[in-house]
Amino acid sequence: MSAKSFNVAVAGATGAVGNQMIACLEEMQFPVKNIRLLASSRSAGRRLRFRGEMVAVEELTADSFAGMDIALFSAGGTTSQTFAPAAARAGCVVIDNSSAWRMDPQVPLVVPEVNPHAVADYRHKGIIANPNCSTIQMVVALNPIHRRFGIRRIVVSTYQSVSGTGKKAIDELFNQTRAMINFLEAETRVYPHRIAFNCLPHIDAFLANGYTKEEMKMVNETRKILEAPEIGVTATTVRVPVFFGHSEAVNVETIAHASAEQVRALLSDAPGVTVVDDPANNRYPLAIEAAGRDSTFVGRIRQDDSIPNGINLWIVADNIRKGAATNAVQIAQVLADRHL
Ligand code: A2P
Repeated sequence: MSAKSFNVAVAGATGAVGNQMIACLEEMQFPVKNIRLLASSRSAGRRLRFRGEMVAVEELTADSFAGMDIALFSAGGTTSQTFAPAAARAGCVVIDNSSAWRMDPQVPLVVPEVNPHAVADYRHKGIIANPNCSTIQMVVALNPIHRRFGIRRIVVSTYQSVSGTGKKAIDELFNQTRAMINFLEAETRVYPHRIAFNCLPHIDAFLANGYTKEEMKMVNETRKILEAPEIGVTATTVRVPVFFGHSEAVNVETIAHASAEQVRALLSDAPGVTVVDDPANNRYPLAIEAAGRDSTFVGRIRQDDSIPNGINLWIVADNIRKGAATNAVQIAQVLADRHL
């Protein structure tokens, strides 16, 4: 970490991810000189704690970024589309958690364990994109396999927690669960169907090809981050009644043969990965154990005997931490260490 310190803005500071970004800046000891907390006018004047002091939230405007060095954005795609260029014009590098800029060829899409070199491309637009939560945890686990054996195809099904939708959805699962165990009517506001005691094969909007935007984010972002447009990727993304932590069943077809033992050994040494794979003792990654931690947990590593070179894995991470805030602050660390 460089000896310098930086003025840092957090846009969307009152949200689930924004709150965690503030906590991660503190926990990960990012060298913050001054912090500016930004949200909508509804939250202006609210106070949030940073390093033991209360900081007032300000309304996000185009003028919010004067004198700021780095802005972490998590206030939705429209807000990023509108305000990220204004921040960049003010000389402040944006690390954006929305999907607004991720597939822009002039915007790097970064997972520091995988492609930290791409951060250098922030110079084109002054924006770095933080990938989709489900994609981050998958590429942290799959990158070592791709580098060693080559990946031909990925088939992934996700089991995604409601915190990925934001605070309103956390409240919705809580309120619906409480209503139902009290034999009351559950109100549905955030999702098109009840999420309590249910699974919804629908995350983000449906596209003309029958997939959802979330599914196509996993396809396109995986290829961009791994710098491997030739890899086949197909995804089914499912919302489940879990508060924190996304789980994924991933089937990988490799080019060179990989045994389950080789993959287990490789991932045991991989950056950002913790292998939990002891089925005899009922040990495998669990959302409730990944929640509150920064690692990507991998288990159930086994051969897929239906094809010559197949491996199955179960990959779990805290979607608000590694899937969003932690990854964004790790990008800020690379930026600060190598480029500012
Ligand atoms: P606010 O709390 O003032 O609405 P979440 O994803 O958990 O719902 O959080 C979304 C975050 O984005 C919140 O901090 C929210 O602020 C912020 N936000 C939403 N819309 C805007 C906007 N138009 N301008 C600035 N901040 C916004």
